[in-house]
Amino acid sequence: MSIITKSITEQIYNIIKERILLQEYKVGSKIDMNEIARENEISIMPVRDALKKLSNQGLVENKSRVGFFVRSFNERETKNIMEVRRMYEIYCLDKHFANINKEKMESLYEEIKCMGEPDRKEFDRLDAEFHDLLIKASENEFLIKNYGQIKDLIVLFKHLDRERIRLANKEHCQLIEAILEGDKDKAIQKLEEHITNVTYSAGETLKKIKA
Ligand code: NI
Repeated sequence: MSIITKSITEQIYNIIKERILLQEYKVGSKIDMNEIARENEISIMPVRDALKKLSNQGLVENKSRVGFFVRSFNERETKNIMEVRRMYEIYCLDKHFANINKEKMESLYEEIKCMGEPDRKEFDRLDAEFHDLLIKASENEFLIKNYGQIKDLIVLFKHLDRERIRLANKEHCQLIEAILEGDKDKAIQKLEEHITNVTYSAGETLKKIKA
């Protein structure tokens, strides 16, 4: 692969990944390679390479002779992904509690408190920032990278409704309070509850999509 096509593949990879994560491409839908090639005035090759890379990461499903589809998950897979997420986050909270960035937690706390009416985009940003702070406390680049992949998968089945956003905000606040108070046991308990609730609502969303 030449350097030029490699960088085109990179760019196409980023474009497609962003569309998937922003849910512009719906879960389970077919990704039109020709359309992407046309839009970007390129050949189909780099588009196919980008999609192969995304399929290695689990964001896209490669059905032979049919094409590439945005990955959808069943209930068992959703639970398994959330189990891995729980493993990472509880571990970091437990082992690296003292290393959590308190200033950032405090300013996040203010932002969450001031959020008012739930806005999905804003919530997603604050949610990602909060959980990332727990993971970053590890200062372990391998752990952070692996968690990032799990996080991308979660975006594919996490479509919270307004009521759930309201509750999740409350849970985040209680969690941050426990962290700022230095109460590790309470923080771990609150994080366990939070992830259990998110897992449950992801399962409910899945049922609605399939209904
Ligand atoms: Ni959360």
